Parts: sequence; C-alpha cells; structure tokens
Amino acid sequence: MLRFPLTRAGRSFQPWKSCAIGSFRFSTAADASPSHQIPSKVRNLIGGEFVESESNAFIDVINPATQEVVSQLPLTTNEEFKAAVSAAKHAFPKWRNTPVTTRQRIMFKLQELIRRDMDKLAMNITVEQGKTLRDAQGDVFRGLEVVEHACGMASLQMGEYVSNVSNGIDTYSIREPLGVCAGICPFNFPAMIPLWMFPMAVTCGNTYILKPSEKDPGAAMMLAELAMEAGLPDGVLNIVHGTNDVVNNICDDRDIKAISFVGSNTAGMHIYARAAAKGKRIQSNMGAKNHAIVMPDASLDATLNALVAAGFGAAGQRCMALSTVVFVGGSKPWEEKLKERAKELKVNAGIEPGTDLGPVISKQAKDRICKLIQSGVESGARLVLDGRSIVVGGYEDGNFVGPTILADVTSNMECYEEEIFGPVLLCMQADGLEEAIDIVNRNKFGNGASIFTTSGVAARKFQHEIEAGQVGINVPIPVPLPFFSFTGSKASFAGDLNFYGKAGVQFYTQIKTVTQQWKDLPSQAASLAMPTSQKA
Ligand SMILES: *[C@@H]1O[C@H](CO)[C@@H](O)[C@H](O)[C@H]1NC(C)=O
Ligand SMILES: *[C@@H]1O[C@H](CO)[C@@H](O)[C@H](O)[C@H]1NC(C)=O
Repeated sequence: MLRFPLTRAGRSFQPWKSCAIGSFRFSTAADASPSHQIPSKVRNLIGGEFVESESNAFIDVINPATQEVVSQLPLTTNEEFKAAVSAAKHAFPKWRNTPVTTRQRIMFKLQELIRRDMDKLAMNITVEQGKTLRDAQGDVFRGLEVVEHACGMASLQMGEYVSNVSNGIDTYSIREPLGVCAGICPFNFPAMIPLWMFPMAVTCGNTYILKPSEKDPGAAMMLAELAMEAGLPDGVLNIVHGTNDVVNNICDDRDIKAISFVGSNTAGMHIYARAAAKGKRIQSNMGAKNHAIVMPDASLDATLNALVAAGFGAAGQRCMALSTVVFVGGSKPWEEKLKERAKELKVNAGIEPGTDLGPVISKQAKDRICKLIQSGVESGARLVLDGRSIVVGGYEDGNFVGPTILADVTSNMECYEEEIFGPVLLCMQADGLEEAIDIVNRNKFGNGASIFTTSGVAARKFQHEIEAGQVGINVPIPVPLPFFSFTGSKASFAGDLNFYGKAGVQFYTQIKTVTQQWKDLPSQAASLAMPTSQKA
C-alpha cells in the first residue's frame, strides 16, 4: 500500500518511447507522433473546475508493465490546496440543505455512468496500476456497489425518535453531515477505494477533498468527471495531488473535520496521530497479514484454487490477500499440488488476454519483495517455488514477480513479520487447530483470516476464537458487501468507525439529539433541580 515517505518529486519527464501496448494507445497531446508524445498533466479539481496545477514539481505516473510515463502528477501547491478546501467549505451550506433524495439521485446517475464507462475505467487502471483487465473490472465493480448502497441514504441516515419521554416531551436524534471531509487513497485499488470514500460522504451531505494515489490517479480523475456529469454541484468534490506535504496539510487544516485513509501502517498511524491532535475524526485501514488455516479434512480442489487465487491474485497487492497458510498436520501433502497450480498461472502485462497476474506497482516494490524472499531463505525457509527471475517476453522492463512459495516459515522470520504485498505465499504448519489459531492470534495484524475445512465444529471454533476483523469460512477473501462494513481490527485499523455500511454512515455524520416540548405550560415556580423524567 501507500509507502511513506512516498516518491521523490520534481523528476523531469521521460520522453515517451513507444506508447503502444498491445493494440491500445494512450491519448495524450493531440498532434504528437508516438515517439514525441508529451504525457498529459493530471489536473486538480477545485470548485468544479479541472485546472492545471501551477506547481513546478511533478511525479511521473509509470506503467508498471513497461516503465512508460503515462501522465505527470503535480504536487498540488499550498495555495491550490487552500483553494480546494475553501471551495468545499463554501459548497457545504447549500449542499447540506439539499434534500437527501436529490443527493441520492446524483448517486443513481453516477452508478449508471460508472457502468457506462466500466471498460474505460478498467483500462486506465490496468495501464497505471498493472492488474489484469478482469481484476480491474472487479476493482470498479466493488466500488460501484458502494455507490449503489449510497443510493439508499435516506433510510441509512434516518434518526431515532421516542415520543413522550416525559410528560409532553419528545426526544429525537438527527444524523447531520460533518462539513468538509477528506480521503487519502492507496495505489492498489484506484477505483474501489475512492468509491469507498466520497460517495458515502457526499450523499450524507458533506463536501470532500480527495487525494488519489500519486502512483495511479487516473481512475479517481475519471470518477470525478463522472460525478460532475452526474450532477454533483461545484465544490462538493475536489481533488488535490501529492505526497507527504499535501497529506500533512489535510491533517492540519482546521476546516477539515474527518479523514478516511487506506494504506500502510507508517502513513496511517502518522495521519491518525497528527489529525487526532487537531481534533479530527479518523478511519484508517492499514497493513495486513491474512492467514488461512487449512484443516486436513479440507476439500482438496476447492482449497487449492482458493489459496492460489487469494495468494497470487492482483500480484498479492490486496490488503485482503491470503499471504500465509497454516497447514494443520503439515504442509508437505499440499506443497507439490500448490506448486503445480501456481506454476500454471500466466504472468504477463495486465492488458494481455489470459493473464493471471500482472506486474507489481514499482521497481522499489519489486526489490523489496525480492529482498524479503531472500531473507526468508537465509533464515531457513524452504523455497518451493521461486518467481524472482521471471522474464516476460515483450515486457522485459516490467516489474514482474512470479508466484513464489516459501515453506517451513516460522513467526520470527522477517518475511513473516512484514507485509510483503507481492505474490508470495508463506507456508507454516501446526499440529492442531488450537496451535494454528494461536499462531494467527499472535500476529499483530487483524484484517482477515480464513479456515478451510469440512468440519462445522472446527469452523465454529475458528469463527469464535480468531482475532481478525473479517473471517472467511471456506471463503478466501471475505471482503463484506457495502451493507456490512469493512471491519479490519488490531493493527490493521485505527479509529472507531469502519468504512461503508452502517459504520460508514456514522463516520460521516454526527448526531444531534433534540428534546422538545409543545404544550401550554401552567404557570409554576421555576425548579432549579436537574430535570428528571420521574415527575411531570
Ligand atoms: C404523555 O405522558 C403523560 C404521562 O406521563 C400522559 O398523561 C399524556 O397523556 C401523554 N401524552 C401523549 C401525547 O401521549
Ligand atoms: C487515465 O485517466 C486519466 C484521467 O482522465 C488520464 O490523465 C490518463 O492519461 C489516463 N491513463 C490512461 C492510461 O488512459
């Protein structure tokens, strides 16, 4: 996920070598021939206008399969940041007074437009992020479901009412928007995570500052265009770009009331501490080390498929990837079959048909993954499958790592302690379910955990005793749909209210409780005692 500190800025752009990828061509400066095309500059969105930044510091957005520069992302200047917050602040009073039914209708329209442009969005994600086109469609679709959920905001945001709590007195509560809220996004889901954030926030009546990932901002920009097309008023959604400085500006700004963050622990805890000191509300989804426990009675075929898909899918760059498997009764009987299936996976550019896993996001990410694999080997893990030296024909410069399997991993190894965020599956073993659960619970992270078994007794014990926020029973990546919430726990989450679902509405609203009395009051002496409901 998002590293912190992030990327060095101000790099001069690289001339575009060849912009053809398969049959797909980027659209850039209109008249240039492929070899002289200048990458487009990503814009800020301030007060309803997509404006080019005045900044002189830019970061190249790089296609991880080719190293070609796709676009250039500005480090939004302080003045532009302030203008964005000011636009959001000014748009708030009118937007909060806009009927929720009107706000919902804009989400209805937005979901229609996202469906219309699904293929374009997926293509943009594949080129900037690297994942396969099918996986990119899933990225958009899982975000789209949150937009659909936001269409029911009138019911979700409803308050509560108790009549006649005392003689002639009623109490009711109202969920009101907070004001200007902000979202800081990671690189791994360029559409889904922006869609976890701004649709819920703005449909609750807030206005928003979104900072897409500096590595793949394209999908967020396209979604913002769609939101404007859907009728979102100027200033309700604003977009700024950059790395540490803009993140710190978001944490410090007095007009921003709440921050949603998804990314690494280093960045997430920094934001949590810094923004909380300014009195902000924060929800911070961070790192993970998701375990699968495989019981000896697990159904062989389904379990192997699940492990391969959840371990290597998206090149392991999902915060719900299953990166560690604890085999009860030993891993030996599983290793060969696991290796066979992993070897069958096709590693290639995400744009190529039939690809199972694409490149990882950057050269630095690849280096880090390879180092962690090496450290595992040096501390005694057994390399069952090594994907480090893979070369993909036609994409020799891509940041590819093939599926890698390390066995005999123990919990003191660095490759176990760190989130690898690559296509690396660690195999551990335990004598019984008790010991396996203990291994999982000793890990500091608590995003997700799954069990594979045909025993209801084992599954039920697991569900009850496991310390993870999202539990799968014969389900490898148990990411809840938006009517539930994304409920990572322990070191995987900081804050009190999770993303989307009921908690998401609570996060983006504050409760006002009203006590009212409508009756003719008989004149009586004023009582200065604390009012109680005992006496009328
Ligand atoms: C409210 O409660 C009082 C008793 O505390 C009762 O006399 C009165 O009729 C109630 N009024 C309404 C409108 O329900
Ligand atoms: C993705 O979309 C953004 C915003 O429209 C654009 O700047 C970028 O060039 C697009 N990238 C690709 C590869 O289409």
